[in-house]
Amino acid sequence: MKKISFLLLLSIAVFAQEKHRPQLHFTPASMWMNDPNGMFYANGTYHLYYQYYPKSTVWGPMHWGHATSKDLMHWEHQPIALYPDSLGMIFSGSAVIDHQNTSGLGRNGHAPVVAIYTSHNMDWEKAGRIDRESQSIAYSLDGGQTFSKFVGNPVIKNPGIADFRDPNVSWYAPGKKWIMALATQDRETFYSSPDLKNWTKESEFGAKFGAHGGVWECPDLFSMQVDGKTKWVLIVNINPGAPNGGSGAQYFVGDFDGHQFIPQDEETRWIDYGRDNYAGVTFHETGDKRIFMGWMSNWDYATVVPTASWRSANTLARDLTLKNIAGKYILASMPVAAVSDYAMKAQTIKSNKRIQLPTALQRLSGKLPVQDFSITLSNTKGEKVIIGFEAASNRYFVDRDASGDLGFSNKFAGKTYAPRLSKSDSIDFTLITDVASAEFFADGGLSVLTTIYFPSWPFKNLKISAAKGLPFLLEDLKPSM
Ligand code: FRU
Repeated sequence: MKKISFLLLLSIAVFAQEKHRPQLHFTPASMWMNDPNGMFYANGTYHLYYQYYPKSTVWGPMHWGHATSKDLMHWEHQPIALYPDSLGMIFSGSAVIDHQNTSGLGRNGHAPVVAIYTSHNMDWEKAGRIDRESQSIAYSLDGGQTFSKFVGNPVIKNPGIADFRDPNVSWYAPGKKWIMALATQDRETFYSSPDLKNWTKESEFGAKFGAHGGVWECPDLFSMQVDGKTKWVLIVNINPGAPNGGSGAQYFVGDFDGHQFIPQDEETRWIDYGRDNYAGVTFHETGDKRIFMGWMSNWDYATVVPTASWRSANTLARDLTLKNIAGKYILASMPVAAVSDYAMKAQTIKSNKRIQLPTALQRLSGKLPVQDFSITLSNTKGEKVIIGFEAASNRYFVDRDASGDLGFSNKFAGKTYAPRLSKSDSIDFTLITDVASAEFFADGGLSVLTTIYFPSWPFKNLKISAAKGLPFLLEDLKPSM
């Protein structure tokens, strides 16, 4: 009897602690996480590093945490990869495999994994010094498990710009050199290097393009094939200044010649219009595929969200493609195909009927004529999140005004919108819900809304309202742990 009540109390305590823990999305085992960093694929394993503070559930001296996965869905925690040092905290950056050992840091024929990151000197920041951020490198001779700092750090000194960070490096084959995209306050600065140690400034982009409601952070520059052509995509995260407030990921499509980036037009576009997809960049070394992952939070409230023992999850990994919409190249993102390997039980459901869900981890997909519709997820406490489309304004929306705990920040509640970019006369969508998040992909991923929420009890009721009743596919997903 005593044993039973102890177990009951224990499980209630665990539930209270963990009730907002996603089951399929990556979260740190405990403590604080922000941006994904240095992601790459090698020998059948995806490596994910992330901004991590192992001593608190709020931001602090940054390390690079580390996790690995075979399928981008199930992640295994690994020991911390990079610790702060005398140059400062380890801010965001990227990692490359130096196949040709251009850096000379490889040994015995093994290509080194080289991490390129920002050293942030907090003492200098506190002293008001503008040169507090510089770029450093560290190398791994065991495939990304452990790293040694390069003795010649920093490899790029600060030229007098306070926000000078988040280097993203890749090999530019036509020019046989490394290219770095670096966020430098209100623009990107591109550098090149023959060996990852000596860097030359090539050009700047963006002072007159894109959104400028905040600081530019976490860039990514890569090429993609579309219509038999090579186009270049430049992701530029910005905080604040996103279309629905706070942090967001804008991007530009254009051309890059090894020196300069030229965008296709002057429009500002967003990978995701939801409030909870920030600092997203792509995995390196994935061949023709481009796989994106973001931090599923927003600096407007990230440090106060009501999770007890850890903070933040990442978005699901997403495949990026370029689509030609009325002569412009638009980035579309969809969850990686491996999600389907986690689909267990499928059922066809009709609109305008309330469905009882067995778990709060579900995939819902469907196709319907362009019309108003809404998908309501709710619990018996009257809490709900509503996702849908407003034909009159041609916008998708997410409404988390009554989604549960809202009191931790006055910037959390509200309705967010994404424009419909597709010209097609039907809407297709995929919605993945995982305990405390919803990722909504419409029109093959042209319009995306990612949102987090904190209900007091899991959302296990579902209702789709649409004038023209149609069948939708509902699948239970299985947790990754
Ligand atoms: C973005 C960011 C980066 C920085 C890191 C620090 O969320 O501000 O610009 O490198 O977080 O943790």
